[in-house]
Amino acid sequence: MTKINLENLKIEIEKRVKRAKDLKELDEIFKKYLGKKGEITQILRSLKDLPEKERKKRGELANQIKQDIEKTVRVGREKFQSSSSKFPKEWLDVTVPGKKPALGHLHPLTLIKRKTEEIFEAMGFSVIEGPEVENEWYNFDALNIPKDHPARDVWDTLWLKEPQSQKLLLRTHTSPVQIRYMEKNNPPLRMIVPGRIFRHEATDASHEINFYQLEGLMLGKDISAANFKAIIEEFFSRFFEKEVKIRLRPSFFPFTEPSFEVDIGCLVCKGRGCKVCAQTGWVELMGAGMVHPNVLKAAGINPKNWPGFAFGIGMDRLAMMKYKINDIRLFYSGDLRFLEQF
Ligand code: PHE
Repeated sequence: MTKINLENLKIEIEKRVKRAKDLKELDEIFKKYLGKKGEITQILRSLKDLPEKERKKRGELANQIKQDIEKTVRVGREKFQSSSSKFPKEWLDVTVPGKKPALGHLHPLTLIKRKTEEIFEAMGFSVIEGPEVENEWYNFDALNIPKDHPARDVWDTLWLKEPQSQKLLLRTHTSPVQIRYMEKNNPPLRMIVPGRIFRHEATDASHEINFYQLEGLMLGKDISAANFKAIIEEFFSRFFEKEVKIRLRPSFFPFTEPSFEVDIGCLVCKGRGCKVCAQTGWVELMGAGMVHPNVLKAAGINPKNWPGFAFGIGMDRLAMMKYKINDIRLFYSGDLRFLEQF
């Protein structure tokens, strides 16, 4: 019997196993080499006729090849079995915990809006809305900000391009709603206006081109700045659920006289200085003041009878303080990694 080169045979068999397309073909290969009359089987059988030294060498090799082929055929079989049988795919593990359907949730600014409304409503304030597209009268003139007056530049305005009979703009603050409300309602009155406003300015960690304000207005027989301070302190302590440091600074707004700026001690850094408070330890949260007589007159109210105060709070800053967020732009990023924390 001619001696077959065992190494070559091994390579040839491995190739065939690889190429096999189904179980049947694999079984045929197995039979051809390792069956009763298979080539390897015969080689193993013929070993006994060889001289001792050669028998040992060839025997070891042939046995090795036999084991290798058995293994490759077994692996091949497993492969075909798992892909041809439907069971593994359809198998259902009833012990796996169920997947919860993804539920939406409220945006942090919506949470803040609801919370502020709740607090002011409890103090007798009505929640009012107004248009985001305004005209110059409500956004400026009626608020005692005359045309060509430098004060107008404080509110970097986004104007609408469409030719209109009157110039339209995106409201730069929620104050125009004061006028709209006073035109239709008689004092005494208490109202707040949560709403989106727009400013044509460069963005950074504490500035956005659109953000949210909460306007407040209270008119009554003997309303003074002391009433304002009491109400706003009550609001902050309910809102932050702790005592908050407040600082009133004299300021200027055309629609209030006197005017003040209300700062609170920075809650993000506890006054040490950070990005949010521009290292000062204080964050300017609102402008406020006693309603200017010209504003009341513009809305048809007699200033002598109905004094009152007005304020405007930056709601984004309130949210930043409440949740310790150091960049206003995160609110508008749509980044789920941020939003899903609320
Ligand atoms: N409207 C002012 C602003 O946007 C804030 C403000 C409102 C100030 C009411 C005083 C009274 O800056």
